[in-house]
Amino acid sequence: MGEIISGKALSKTIRAEVKTQVEALQAKHGKVPHLVVILVGEDAASESYVKAKGKACAKAGIRSTILKKEETITEDELLKIIQEFNEDPDTHGILVQLPLPKHIDENKVLLAIQKEKDVDGFHPLNVAAVHLGQEAILPATPKGILTMLKSTGVEIKGKKALVIGRSNIVGKPVSMLLLKEHATVTIAHSRTLDMKKEALEADILVAAVGRPNMVTADMVKEGAVVIDVGVNRIEVNGERKLVGDVDFESVKDKASFITPVPGGVGPMTIASLLQNTIECFTMVEKL
Ligand code: GUN
Repeated sequence: MGEIISGKALSKTIRAEVKTQVEALQAKHGKVPHLVVILVGEDAASESYVKAKGKACAKAGIRSTILKKEETITEDELLKIIQEFNEDPDTHGILVQLPLPKHIDENKVLLAIQKEKDVDGFHPLNVAAVHLGQEAILPATPKGILTMLKSTGVEIKGKKALVIGRSNIVGKPVSMLLLKEHATVTIAHSRTLDMKKEALEADILVAAVGRPNMVTADMVKEGAVVIDVGVNRIEVNGERKLVGDVDFESVKDKASFITPVPGGVGPMTIASLLQNTIECFTMVEKL
C-alpha cells in the first residue's frame, strides 16, 4: 500500500511555524497580520470554509475579520468595501470568498483587491507572475499541493504530471507550479478524449475536477504520486459522506504516495493561506 501524505499532520506543523512567526512579528513590530474575509450570500460550503479560515487565524494568533454580506449586495457596494480595506493600513490581507452571486463580476472584484493584499493570489497581476514563473503570492490550494509533493522527497523534475481539471483556482495554477519544478505537464479536462491513457502515463496525478471517485485504480500507473483535491459530499447507505475525486480504497494500493479526503489537501489550503497572510503583512508593512 502507498504511503499516505497526511495534510492534517503537515498543516499542523506549518500552523505552528506560522504561530511562532506571528509572535515574532508582534514582539518586533507591535502588531500582527490582519486578514479580512468577505463572504457574500448563504452558500453552505462557503460558510464552512470561511468559518474554518477564521478559526485557523485565531489559533495562529492572526487577527481576522469576517464580513458577511447579503446576496443582494451590488457590485459597486462590494467594490467600495474592498477599496476601504485597500486603504486601511491595518488590513494586510483581503479574501473574497468565491463563488460570488451571478450579478457580480468576479473578475472586476479580484482586480479591485490591492495586489499586495491579495492573500488568495487571484489578482490578474499575481496570476501573471505565476504564469511567468516569477515570485508571487501563490493561490493557497496549489501552494499546499506543492508543499505536500515536496514533503514526500519524490523528485518532480522530469516527471510526467497529469492535472485533471482546468479551473483558475486549482488546475491552471498547479500546472504552472509543476512546470516551474520542471515536470512535463499535461492538463486534462472534461473534453479530453482518452482520460485513462493520459492518466496511466502520469508519475504525478493531481485530480481537481469535483467528480466523486472518478480516478479508479485501472487509471493509475504503479508507483504514481496521487493528489486528490476533490471535496464531494455524497450519500452512501443514507449517510452523508465526504469523498474526493480519487477512489482512495482501490488507488492506494497502486500509488507510492496518496492524499486522503478528508485530511489531505483541505487542511493544507488553510495552512497555506496563513503563510500567505504573513507574506502580505510583510509587503504591506514594507518589512
Ligand atoms: N472558493 C473555493 N476555494 C476558494 C479559495 O481558495 N479562495 C476563495 N476566495 N474562494 C474559494
